[in-house]
Amino acid sequence: LNYLTPKSRLEVLDLLVTGLKRLEYRGYDSTGVAIDSPDSKNIVMVKRTGKVKVLEDAILEHFSGGEYSEPVMTHIGIAHTRWATHGVPCERNSHPHRSDEGNGFVVVHNGIITNYNDVKTFLAKRGYEFESDTDTEVFAKLVHHLWKTHPTYSFRELVEQAILQVEGAFAIAVKSKHFPGECVASRRSSPLLVAIKTKTRLATDHIPILYGKVLPRSDSTSEFMPLEEKEVEYFFASDASAVIEHTNRVIYLEDDDVAAVRDGTLSIHRLKKSLDDPHAREITTLKMEIQQIMKGNYDYFMQKEIFEQPDSVVNTMRGRVRFDGNAIVLGGIKDYIPEIKRCRRLMLIGCGTSYHSAVATRQLLEELTELPVMVELASDFLDRNTPIFRDDVCFFISQSGETADTLMALRYCKQRGALIVGITNTVGSSICRESHCGVHINAGPEIGVASTKAYTSQFISLVMFALVMSEDRLSLQQRRLEILQALSNLADQIREVLKLDSKVQELAKDLYQHKSLLIMGRGYNFATCLEGALKVKELTYMHSEGIMAGELKHGPLALVDDSMPVLMIVLRDPVYVKCMNALQQVTSRKGCPVIICEEGDEETKAFSSRHLEIPRTVDCLQGILTVIPMQLLSYHIAVLRGCDVDCPRNLAKSVTVE
Ligand code: G6P
Repeated sequence: LNYLTPKSRLEVLDLLVTGLKRLEYRGYDSTGVAIDSPDSKNIVMVKRTGKVKVLEDAILEHFSGGEYSEPVMTHIGIAHTRWATHGVPCERNSHPHRSDEGNGFVVVHNGIITNYNDVKTFLAKRGYEFESDTDTEVFAKLVHHLWKTHPTYSFRELVEQAILQVEGAFAIAVKSKHFPGECVASRRSSPLLVAIKTKTRLATDHIPILYGKVLPRSDSTSEFMPLEEKEVEYFFASDASAVIEHTNRVIYLEDDDVAAVRDGTLSIHRLKKSLDDPHAREITTLKMEIQQIMKGNYDYFMQKEIFEQPDSVVNTMRGRVRFDGNAIVLGGIKDYIPEIKRCRRLMLIGCGTSYHSAVATRQLLEELTELPVMVELASDFLDRNTPIFRDDVCFFISQSGETADTLMALRYCKQRGALIVGITNTVGSSICRESHCGVHINAGPEIGVASTKAYTSQFISLVMFALVMSEDRLSLQQRRLEILQALSNLADQIREVLKLDSKVQELAKDLYQHKSLLIMGRGYNFATCLEGALKVKELTYMHSEGIMAGELKHGPLALVDDSMPVLMIVLRDPVYVKCMNALQQVTSRKGCPVIICEEGDEETKAFSSRHLEIPRTVDCLQGILTVIPMQLLSYHIAVLRGCDVDCPRNLAKSVTVE
């Protein structure tokens, strides 16, 4: 909604499409947009299957008429890029969804409305016909039904009543031709923020929350709490990257907040107030910069993010590790360390790559904390109704901080009284806000769907935590020093590993036409095998498996012959001899593995003609140096196979549905 400078509808469309491009990594199977018609009496929608570029072309074709270039002062548009949950990706199923043929109410939605069948049956009985297979459409029609049956309700009240009827997860934005110049948005479990752009600095850092029952429509102006400034633009978005080029001032909405913009003013409303509810929502200033979410000179975001790792690991340690005094301070959890030290066990919970960072650091955590450490996939953890105790400390690891499975597991543990520690890359995310304490990994925005720099930063965050926990253990000081020393060299060593890029590209040329790739290792490098195989699957659609080398003889060895591509990690660490055994088991079955080994390790290199040599570091940090060749390899194979590196098929960066 714009009061700053008059904008034409074409400019509004441009703004929406650019926002969608920034959000494309969240889902990219179909897109759509809705804005007012030139006379503001109707709503026009354009939807397309495929990526935002396809929508952009369609918009150029559809809105080329001069009437759309007339500047107007107030206008609202909504837009969406979809990751299908209900209904195949197609134009009919793409958002916005509408209430009726006249486009009375149009809705964009992230999440899943789990009781959509009940709502649909209710509405069908009242004559509503559905045109898509989505859960979202019921919301648009439900608002319409409420509008017809409650003619005095304001727009905000209608949405408020509708969200009372729906179950599941949602972030929703609604626009209506019956309420021109207004937009209402709400969330439950899925992320949503309001961004505010003003000419001068806002007079307030808080937007008061309005509680209680609603007033009749005629009287409802009093419900709206105007900001002092009249010249203001508002944006609702599911993440800050969509708006950061316009403003860095945002409010993260809480579950069941209903935010409405009308006549240039914003109000945030909740139906009920409980004792500890705050009076206002805070406006936060984000540190994110637009360059961080641009590709720069790289071909793909993923490539950029792989090459950013010498800097991102330093950013994770910045202000926390003092190499001279061997001290580590993690400001976000320091007050909780005494409590954590008294705990019964540590649980590390995450999904996908974040889960692998837990696997990668478990051994060190066990060693330095001398506590039992459980590592769990969030979905499986919930399926098992895992017992949780008040003296458990549960870590939730998530790049986005919004992954639904991880968030549900967090709430499960919190309810049972455990201490909740968030390890996330997204300030203001749900996991951040719902944790008791935590560590921001500070890797900078990660856009490529396949996670790279977030993994290495999560890894380092957990290593730093292990170091903090062992600070006063005399017997561990030597070990701590060795790790701190290695951390101080890490950025340079990552730079060395990145120089393998062209060698890895050559290797990719040998491998990209194969159907499968087995990645073997053990000990500290098992996580690299899992993570490497995940990267290969995600990006290249090849089959790949991370194999614990100790398990080779219990099954996977049957896969090995002279044509099966195998990659083995064999480093000079406590499991070297065992890895060499596995290597010989493979070579004696005519396997010809590619070996990742330490620089200059001639003895190991002698076992294969193909190797990638990485610098030597302390055993518990090797996983950072061994995973980088795997990131590069999956990237190059994907490019050679013609895959869309940043947007692999069927996947999304942040999966906010269970
Ligand atoms: C999705 C992404 C993965 C990611 C996982 C966990 O599946 O495609 O790359 O590792 O979610 O995401 P999180 O944001 O919780 O780390």
